Amino acid sequence: MKKCLLLGNGGREAVLAEQISKGYSLYVIMPYANPSIVEQVEKSNGKYIIGNPFDKELVKKFIEAEKIEACVVSQDNLLQEGLIDLAKELGLKTFGPTSQGAKLEWSKTYALDVVKKLAPEMIIRNEKISTLEELEKAIENYKDDSFVVKPEGLTGGKGVKVGGIHFKGKEEGFNYAKECLEEAGKVIIQDKVEGREFTVMALTDGKNIVVTPITFDYPYRFDEDKGPGTGGMGCLSFANGLLPFLEQEDVDKCSKLIQDTIQYVNKDNLEFTGVIYGGFFKCKQGIKFIEFNARFGDPEAINVLNSLETPFTEVMENIWKQKLSEENCKFKKNYTFTVYVVSSDYAIKKAEPCEFTLNTKDILKKDAKIYFASTKQIENNRYCSVGTSRLFAIHTCGATLEEAKEKAYTAMKNNVDDKLDYRNDIGEIYEH
Ligand code: GLY
Repeated sequence: MKKCLLLGNGGREAVLAEQISKGYSLYVIMPYANPSIVEQVEKSNGKYIIGNPFDKELVKKFIEAEKIEACVVSQDNLLQEGLIDLAKELGLKTFGPTSQGAKLEWSKTYALDVVKKLAPEMIIRNEKISTLEELEKAIENYKDDSFVVKPEGLTGGKGVKVGGIHFKGKEEGFNYAKECLEEAGKVIIQDKVEGREFTVMALTDGKNIVVTPITFDYPYRFDEDKGPGTGGMGCLSFANGLLPFLEQEDVDKCSKLIQDTIQYVNKDNLEFTGVIYGGFFKCKQGIKFIEFNARFGDPEAINVLNSLETPFTEVMENIWKQKLSEENCKFKKNYTFTVYVVSSDYAIKKAEPCEFTLNTKDILKKDAKIYFASTKQIENNRYCSVGTSRLFAIHTCGATLEEAKEKAYTAMKNNVDDKLDYRNDIGEIYEH
């Protein structure tokens, strides 16, 4: 069996591990033993090492010693650091953009410049700030805090702050923007718009794109979209591939922008293959662009890869042959539902390390899946957190949203340790 290297360790990598191991022997470098990834490595007769996936010497040695043929990377900072570039240099088939291709994610000002060229009507009015004077002037122009502060670089999906929600009053917004400016030398101030956010992800071979079912993410920490922003507390997709507030023509506009962006980024060299993530807003003024990510979203990857009908390894092969099409990359027509479980202080204060019990057998019996993220196994059904991020995701699918939701929350009841926390309202569609 062919050997495929996966770098990284989150819930997104856990679902990628499951998909890759269906057709390849899975090889992984991860900083700790993620139980879901370990299971897939063992099942596929692969191998993992606990080490730093940013360590290019380590990665190179592992690839050469194990004669690995393919490499998948879907983590923002690993892409920015050029781990796909390294795999390409070593002659591997790759899924993921080069560092230059991933600039769409690691430079928010670059992404805005690209979209301004390709679809100016999708741009929300913004100012790219590089001095304190510019910042003062930009914020002075607002009557109140109806603006958004967007840091220039990578923030793990948690850096964008919206006036009235994440900060209150102009001064608090100004102070946050100043912090971002000091950190990166640039910051973006953008008008706040009211509407609904959605994600359009597309698989791409660098030339063709195939749009996945559209997903709806739950970035806020608490029920009813209260509290701070997080990496995502849950996610849904619908059987028709749309969302209740979207028409096909809305998605077509986003797909066109994504297709044009891929062509633009690849005009001189093949910099971008894998998956591109477009964050958009549907508002009174139409469809507006929020951001690009150069990777699968997390948890979005869990929904979308579970609704893939074509084996993911076949999709990868079609990407390598530059023959990706809707005929060879098909999705099931079902509802998908994911809830992330976190420690009670996640995103509130520096999370203390925690140990917890998880009745995995009973959850699986109830037709739900578990994808571990920042978690290690201690023994049997005892686990502990690693770092401060999300712990594990519960995923279900169904013929209706109600069925998928009911299955997930029933599986979690009495099986998830009381000291842990999750949102109980995944499935509601809020507007801001
Ligand atoms: N869930 C949002 C992200 O992965 O960026």
